[in-house]
Amino acid sequence: MSHLDANERTWDRLARENSQFANVASDEECEHPLLALDRRGWLPGSVKGLDVLCLASGGGWQSILYAVAGANVTVVDLSPEMLKRDDQQARIRNVHVKTMQASMDDLLELGDSSFDIVHHPVSSCYIPKLKFVYQEVARVLRDEGLYISQHKQPTSLQIVERDQRNRYVLGVSYYHNDPLPAVQDTAYREEGSIEYLHRWEELVGELCRSGFVIEDLSEPRRGDPKAKPDDFRHRGMFTAPYVRMKARRKARDEITESSGQTIWTPDS
Ligand SMILES: C[S@@+](CC[C@H](N)C(=O)[O-])C[C@H]1O[C@@H](n2cnc3c(N)ncnc32)[C@H](O)[C@@H]1O
Repeated sequence: MSHLDANERTWDRLARENSQFANVASDEECEHPLLALDRRGWLPGSVKGLDVLCLASGGGWQSILYAVAGANVTVVDLSPEMLKRDDQQARIRNVHVKTMQASMDDLLELGDSSFDIVHHPVSSCYIPKLKFVYQEVARVLRDEGLYISQHKQPTSLQIVERDQRNRYVLGVSYYHNDPLPAVQDTAYREEGSIEYLHRWEELVGELCRSGFVIEDLSEPRRGDPKAKPDDFRHRGMFTAPYVRMKARRKARDEITESSGQTIWTPDS
C-alpha cells in the first residue's frame, strides 16, 4: 500500500475515533482565536481579510479559529473524514471554510501567490521528501508571506523502545530514508501510518533553500520531571518531540537577484 493510501486510511480512522488530534475548536478558544492558535505572538495582530491556507490541518481546529478571526480560509488535508469535521464545524460556527482533499506536496489546484499565511501543523512525517512540500508552500505564498510549521524531530523518531532501565533506545539510523519501522510506543507515532524521518538539513536547510528566512524557532515542551516512565511526558524529558518554525517567504525578485543567479524560483 502506498504511503498516501495508508495515511489517508489511518487518519480517517483517527477522526472517527475522535483522536486528540481531531479535536475541534471549543467555544472558549473561539472567543480568543488568535491566542489559541499562537501563544508566541508569531501571527499579526489581526488576520481579518487575509488569505490563510491550513495545510494538512483537517479536524476542525485551526481552520475554524482562523475563520472566526475573520480570515479567508482554505484547508487542505489527505483525509476526507478530517475534512468533514471542518465542514461540520464551519456550519455550526456559521463561518465559511473551503475544504480540499490533496497531498501537501502536490497543491496543483491552488494558484501561485494566493496566500498570506500558511499554517502547517505536525504532518511532514507522512511525506518522504520534505523539499516538495516546502516548494509548494513557497509557490502558493505571496512575497513576505508567513509560514508557520511544526514537525516531528528526528531524534524522537529514531527511538524504537524503552529498555529495562527506562532509557530510550535510538534504534533507527539518522540517515534512514525508508518508511520508519512500526514501534510499540505510539505516544509520538500514529499506529497504522507510514512515517519518514527528516534530518535537520532537510527541516531547516531545505526550508532556507526553498526561499524562506527563518525568523524564530521553538521546541514545544512535552516533558514533565514528575512523569512516570509509561507516560509520554517521561519520554518528553529526554528528547523534544517537536520543533516549530516561523519563516518568511523571501520576495521573488530577492531570490533571483541574490548572488547574481537564480537559487530557485517556484516558476522555474
Ligand atoms: C496531526 S494531524 C494535524 C491536524 C490537526 N488539526 C492538529 O491540530 O494537529 C496530521 C494531519 O495530516 C494529514 N495528512 C497526512 N498525510 C497527508 C498528506 N500527504 N497531505 C495532506 N495531509 C496529510 C492527516 O490526515 C491529519 O489530518
